[in-house]
Amino acid sequence: MSSDPKKLFIKTYGCQMNVYDTERMVDVMAHEGYAVTEKPEDADLVVLNTCHIREKAAEKVYSDIGRLRVMKEKQTKAGSKETILAVGGCVAQAEGAEILRRMPIVDMVFGPQTYHRLPEMTREADKAKLLGQRPRIVDTDLSVSEKFDALSKKTVSSKKTAFLTIQEGCDKFCTYCVVPYTRGGEFSRSFEDVMNDAGKLHDAGVLEVTLLGQNVNAYHGKSATGEEWSLARLIRHLAENTDFKRIRYTTSHPGDMTDDLIAVHGDVEQCMPYLHLPVQSGSDRIVKAMNRHHTIATYLKTIEDIRAVSPDIALSGDFIVGFPGESDADFQKTMKLVREVDYAQAYSFMYSERPGTPAAGWESQVENHVKSERLAELQEELLRQQRAFNDASVGKVMSVLLERTGKHAGQLVGRSPYMQAVHVDVDNEETAEQNFGKLVDMKIISAGPRSLKGEFKT
Ligand code: SAH
Ligand code: SF4
Ligand code: F3S
Repeated sequence: MSSDPKKLFIKTYGCQMNVYDTERMVDVMAHEGYAVTEKPEDADLVVLNTCHIREKAAEKVYSDIGRLRVMKEKQTKAGSKETILAVGGCVAQAEGAEILRRMPIVDMVFGPQTYHRLPEMTREADKAKLLGQRPRIVDTDLSVSEKFDALSKKTVSSKKTAFLTIQEGCDKFCTYCVVPYTRGGEFSRSFEDVMNDAGKLHDAGVLEVTLLGQNVNAYHGKSATGEEWSLARLIRHLAENTDFKRIRYTTSHPGDMTDDLIAVHGDVEQCMPYLHLPVQSGSDRIVKAMNRHHTIATYLKTIEDIRAVSPDIALSGDFIVGFPGESDADFQKTMKLVREVDYAQAYSFMYSERPGTPAAGWESQVENHVKSERLAELQEELLRQQRAFNDASVGKVMSVLLERTGKHAGQLVGRSPYMQAVHVDVDNEETAEQNFGKLVDMKIISAGPRSLKGEFKT
């Protein structure tokens, strides 16, 4: 047997919660001696950390499994090492053992709440293989608290920006959405647990922390003394008791934007001027059918209140077009809302019928060509707004956290306070070294639709 470290390849689909989960899987497997590889064919363990939110996302997983099957068949023929293929994340949670039946090449299936047991599952798979059997492992339990207890012991970070999951799951049951079924009910981690992880990130030199949750502003963690902590209170505490220079949070639900949280944007300097607040549609009728628990008027009032305390805030959102029953008039209300709010950036999707969700069975499904026409119209306006927001940045000085190297040689990339990507060309290694991983004041010299270009202020 070779003494090389075992290798792990993980592909991440979907949202930031999955990105966070992938980082934690890397941590737990590092404790088992696994090093990350970029090449699936070199890996002893391949994990697909999947997303079930829209049909396309789930389909992508199956075509990737198809490619990996070819790879594994080649391994068998060559008699070389055989990679363990694991499907994790939200598709795994939704489909469970069905994946093993449909795709016998898959060895292991686990959900978003059980990946802390990946070492045990992998050992079990190794054992099965030694006995000449196919591993058939399924672990899709949905109880969250045990996971965080196990993970807290193993959190490491070497970056300047980090995600910190403080809340998971969702009890809102929007009629189009799979998340309450794939992630389970709403769960807030305790104040002490969150601070313990925050302390580790802080000690590791993290400058920017993004607090994560499916509905992060519904956070209501308890402390050991039984006191309840809201997101607003938690952000204030982090700002006062750590050296994090930047604090962000995502994703928020409009129904949970409390006055207290809005006030944080006005008086906590570290709280960045960026808010992702999905509204999905501009029509009250549709928002109601979606079971969104808010109205367009209350959404607009929240926007007005937040702009009153943070006038330069960059607003982002999510939109679904072609929800069942959406008429042209409903869609035009979405366009009107978008023009009224003026977003710095946003995500928009065609409604996708998801198995097991209430709206999937409705008869009033909108035709595909109508959905794509509406999506094109909406995206044109959103892109125009994004360009305008970026153009207005030119000439300004902004603090940028230069956290990675760019695609081109000598380029560093970071984010502005407003989440815009900012590129800078660095002509010598010394300057690159001096500025990498730092918050640097930069002058914005040009803007594209999706990023800015900056130069060092002299
Ligand atoms: N909890 C967050 C969103 C999580 S899902 C919230 O409530 O805002 C991310 C986004 O995917 C949603 O905001 C929605 O715009 C989109 N989405 C979810 N289910 C969808 C579906 N069935 N079809 C199309 N888009 C969907
Ligand atoms: Fe899905 Fe709605 Fe929950 Fe967001 S609030 S995760 S869209 S059910
Ligand atoms: Fe997808 Fe699961 Fe996130 S369904 S969007 S990866 S919570």
